Amino acid sequence: MKEEDKTIILGICGSIAAYKSCELIRTLKKKNYRVVCIMTDSAQQFITPLTIQTLSCENVYTDLFSEYCSDPKHISLSKKAGIIVIAPATADIIARLATGRANDLLTSVVLATKKPVLICPAMNANMWSNPLTQENVRKLINAGHKFIGPEKGELACGEEGCGRLADIEKIVIKIKQLI
Ligand SMILES: Cc1cc2nc3c(=O)[nH]c(=O)nc-3n(C[C@H](O)[C@H](O)[C@H](O)COP(=O)(O)O)c2cc1C
Repeated sequence: MKEEDKTIILGICGSIAAYKSCELIRTLKKKNYRVVCIMTDSAQQFITPLTIQTLSCENVYTDLFSEYCSDPKHISLSKKAGIIVIAPATADIIARLATGRANDLLTSVVLATKKPVLICPAMNANMWSNPLTQENVRKLINAGHKFIGPEKGELACGEEGCGRLADIEKIVIKIKQLI
């Protein structure tokens, strides 16, 4: 297997499910994947880059501009990886990606890549079923991006509905299929 096929870029967004990305990193590392993480500003309100850096054993990327030197990160990061996974993906990043925005490191990396992109949404059920979110999801599917979840169940906000991050094992199986 090529080195890039063992490298995963994991985008982590500002969802209450961000803590589950820790379990995803651990599971992928046990399967000998290299996991390089990009955190949005909002993601850092939920978990720290230090936690992610420690679990992934890699530098964590958070900022488009401070890491921009002779080696623009939004190009070089995506070239190193076999796949870009966004878990958890918020309604907001789905909206930004669907409109082709590149206003932070994660959206810039996704817009610049030709690698497979797997989006794993997690949000309140009404946010997910909102026609605007659904339209954004359709746009991204038409653009070739893949989705897994969200799943039905109890949500962090105390409601029941469709919005839970897909099961970590299912995400790992999907990554293997796409890489
Ligand atoms: C406590 C709390 C929990 C949140 N959970 C979610 C969530 O699960 N899914 C979601 O789409 N947005 C959630 N949000 C809103 C996002 O954090 C917000 O839309 C943010 O701008 C997303 O930024 P990002 O997509 O760049 O990470 C939550 C906000 C707060 C304050």
